[in-house]
Amino acid sequence: MSRRCASIVILLAASVLFSQTPPQLGQASLDEVIAAMTPAEKVQLLVGGGMAGNFAGVAVGKIYHNVPGAAGTTQPIPRLGIPAIVLADGPAGLRIAPHRDKDEKTYYCTAFPVATMLASTFDAGLVEKVGETMGKEVLEYGVDVLLGPALNIHRNPLCGRNFEYYSEDPLLTGKIAAAMITGVQSNGVGTSIKHFAANNQETMRTGNDARMTTRALREIYLKGFEIAVRDAQPWTVMSSYNLINGTYTSQSRPLLTDILRGEWGFKGTVMSDWYGGKSAPEQIQAGNDLLMPGRADQAIAILSAQIEKKLDGQAVDTCVRKVLQLILESPRFRNYAFSNAPDLKAHALVARQAAADGMVLLKNNNTLPLPPQVKTIAAFGNTSYDFISGGTGSGDVNEAYTVSLAEGLTDAGYTLDGGLKKSYETFFRLEEEKNKPDKSNPLAAFMPKKRPEEFAPGADLLAATASAADIAFITIGRTSGEFEDRKLEGDFLLTAAESGLIAEVTRAFHKAGKKTVVILNVGGVIETASWKAFPDAILLAWQGGQEAGHAVADVLSGKVSPSGRLPMTWPILYDDIASSKNFPARVTLSREEMWADLMGKEKETKDRRNIDYTLYEEDIYVGYRFFDTFKKPVSYPFGYGLSYTTFSCTRPVVAAEAQGWKMTCTVKNTGKAAGKEAVQLYVSAPAKTLAKPAQELKAFAKTRLLQPGESQEVTFTLSPYDLASFDQVRSAWVTEAGSYRLLIAASSRDVRATATLQVAAEQIVRVHDVMRPAEKIATIR
Ligand code: BGC
Repeated sequence: MSRRCASIVILLAASVLFSQTPPQLGQASLDEVIAAMTPAEKVQLLVGGGMAGNFAGVAVGKIYHNVPGAAGTTQPIPRLGIPAIVLADGPAGLRIAPHRDKDEKTYYCTAFPVATMLASTFDAGLVEKVGETMGKEVLEYGVDVLLGPALNIHRNPLCGRNFEYYSEDPLLTGKIAAAMITGVQSNGVGTSIKHFAANNQETMRTGNDARMTTRALREIYLKGFEIAVRDAQPWTVMSSYNLINGTYTSQSRPLLTDILRGEWGFKGTVMSDWYGGKSAPEQIQAGNDLLMPGRADQAIAILSAQIEKKLDGQAVDTCVRKVLQLILESPRFRNYAFSNAPDLKAHALVARQAAADGMVLLKNNNTLPLPPQVKTIAAFGNTSYDFISGGTGSGDVNEAYTVSLAEGLTDAGYTLDGGLKKSYETFFRLEEEKNKPDKSNPLAAFMPKKRPEEFAPGADLLAATASAADIAFITIGRTSGEFEDRKLEGDFLLTAAESGLIAEVTRAFHKAGKKTVVILNVGGVIETASWKAFPDAILLAWQGGQEAGHAVADVLSGKVSPSGRLPMTWPILYDDIASSKNFPARVTLSREEMWADLMGKEKETKDRRNIDYTLYEEDIYVGYRFFDTFKKPVSYPFGYGLSYTTFSCTRPVVAAEAQGWKMTCTVKNTGKAAGKEAVQLYVSAPAKTLAKPAQELKAFAKTRLLQPGESQEVTFTLSPYDLASFDQVRSAWVTEAGSYRLLIAASSRDVRATATLQVAAEQIVRVHDVMRPAEKIATIR
C-alpha cells in the first residue's frame, strides 16, 4: 500500500474514534461540532450523497431521504446530530417524482409559468407571491432547498435554457430573482440561485470558457446575481459548469470568495452544479462549499490534498461551517412535519394569474379582446391541442395536467370548430404510431420530445372551417431544455409548414371576412418579421405552466387585459444580434460528445471557437444595449407589449435624498378597459470617460389594476451606485459627474416622460481587480 493510501485509511479509520458524548449540532456551538469532526467526517459533509437512484441508466448514490425525484442530498453524520438535507429543482416549480413505489398517492407539483414569462410580468409583487406559493410545495413535500431561481442573462436567443432565465437585462433579472427568493424563503426553506455565472450556452456547457472583459462580466453577467444577493440573501448559490476567462467558476476564489462574499456580503453556502468542475480541492479552496451531487473520488481527492499539504485545513473548515449553517436553517433540522399535501388547487390559481399577467400582446388590429359575437373558434396548429407548459430537463415540473388552448377556450364557454378538431385528433393518432420514442439515446428522457411536423389542413377543410367558424387561432409551439442549444432552422425560424399554415389560414379567413390570431406558445425568441403582417393579432403566450390554456382564454376573452412586457429584444434577423457570430448557432455536437459533456469528461479539444471557448466580443452591448445604442431596427423592442387600454404618465419629479434620489410620477388609465401598466425607468448616462449604452433600465414598477380614469403614483429610488458603470482600468464602479437623463417609458423605444438629475462630483467604489481575460478581447464600440 502506498504511503498516500495508508494515510487515507488512517484518516478514514479515525472517523470511528469519536468521543463518548460528541457535541450535537444545534446544541453545541459550531466551533465545538467542527472541532469534534474527524477529517473524514468533514469531507463527508462537503461531498453530497450522490444522485440517488438511476441516472441515465447508471445506478448511483445512496438514498438519504424520502423524496423520490429530488436532485440530491448532503450526507448525514448521525453521531453529531447532523441530518441529510434534500435539494430539488427547479425554476418553474418543484421537481420531484409524481409516483412512488407501492404508493397509491400522487406527488404532483404545480407547474408555474417559466421564468422568462415571470419576468414578462414586470411585477415583483406577483413574482414574490409565485415564490411564496412554490416554496409551500418545497416545504410540504419535505425538501429543504429549491434549486432555483436561475438567472443567467439571455445573451443570445438560442441558448437552450433561456426559458429558465429571466431576461437580457441584469436589473430586471436581479429584481425579479430577488422577489422569487424572498417569496420562496418566506416559508423557511432555501433557494439556490444558479448558474453562477455566465452559463450562457448549453453546447459544451461543462467545458466552455466564456472569455470577456471584466466590464461585461461585472455589468452584465454578475449584476443580476449581485442584486439578488444584496436584496434577498438566498440561502445558497450554485456555481456554473463553464469557465470564465480560463478558470472553472466552481474553482474560482476571486468569484466565489472575493466578489460574492467579500464585495456583496453573501452569507450562505455555495454548491457546485451537478458534477461541475474538475478539481475538488480547488473547489474547496475557492469557497465552493458543497460538491453536488457528490462522488467518492472527490472525497478522496480532498483528503489527499490535505495530506499532501495542497489544501489547508482552514479552507476545509470554512466550507464545513457553511454547510452546517445551511443544515441548521433547514426544515429537516427543525424536524418539520411535512404534510405531503400542499394545496395544489389554490396554487393553480396563482399559476393562472401569473400566466395571464405575463402574456405579451405583440399585435392587435382591433381584434382582441374577442367581441361577444365570436362564439366558434377554429384552432389551428398542433400545439393548440398539445400545449407546452414549460421546457425540459431539470427546469421541467411533474404537474398533474396542462390545460391546452383548446381546453381553455372550451372552459371559457367558446365552441371549437368540431370538424377541424377531429382532423387534428386523427392526425395525432397516426403520428403517435409513427414516432416511437428513441430508446437508443440515453439523453432522450431529459430532452424535448420530437414534435410532429405541422398538420396541413387541405383546401376543402380550410374553406369549410373558414365559413363555419367566427375566427381562427393558429398556435406555434417551441420547446427546449438543458444539454442542447436551440437551432436556427425550424426553431428560431418558422418551418415552411408553419409559415404556410399562417399564410393559408389567414388568406382563407380574410376571404371569408374573418380574422386570425397567432398564439406563440414558446419559451424564447423566434423570428417574427417575415410573417407578422399576415395575422390580425399576435399573442405571445409563452410557456405558461399547467394553467396556460385558461390564462390564454382569460386574456383573449378580455377577462384580463394583457400587461406583460418583453424581457428581451426580438430582432428582425438572427444575424442582427450582437453575439450572433460568437454563439454555436450553427453547430451540432455528436451524441457521443454531448454525452461526454454531460458527464463532465476531460475534453480532447480546447480550441474550437464557440464550442471550447466563446468570445464575448459584443462586450456590454447585449440585447437592447446593442440595438438601441447602435440604432438597429428590431421586430419588437425590449419592454414592449400592448394593452386593451392606454396609459399616460406625468413628468417625473426628482428629489434629492440622503442616499440618492427619489422620482415620482403619476400613471393614469386613459382608455376604456381596466388594466395594469408596467412603468419602466431608463437612464441615459453621461459618457465623458467611459463609453455608455444609449440607455439602461434602472427601475420598473407595475401598477395595480387601474379602472378607466383611475391614477396611481409610482415612486422609484436610485443611488449613485445604481448609476455607476464599471471602469476596468481602475477596477472600480464609477458614477461620472454630470447630467443623467431619466426616461419614463413603455418600452426601450417608447419614452413617455423625461427629467434629469445632476451628479455633482464623480463617485467611485473600488473592487477586487480579478478575473481578467488572458488576452485582449476585440470588443465592439
Ligand atoms: C442543472 C442544474 C440542476 C442540476 C440538478 C444540472 O444538470 O444544470 O440546473 O439544478 O442538474 O438537477
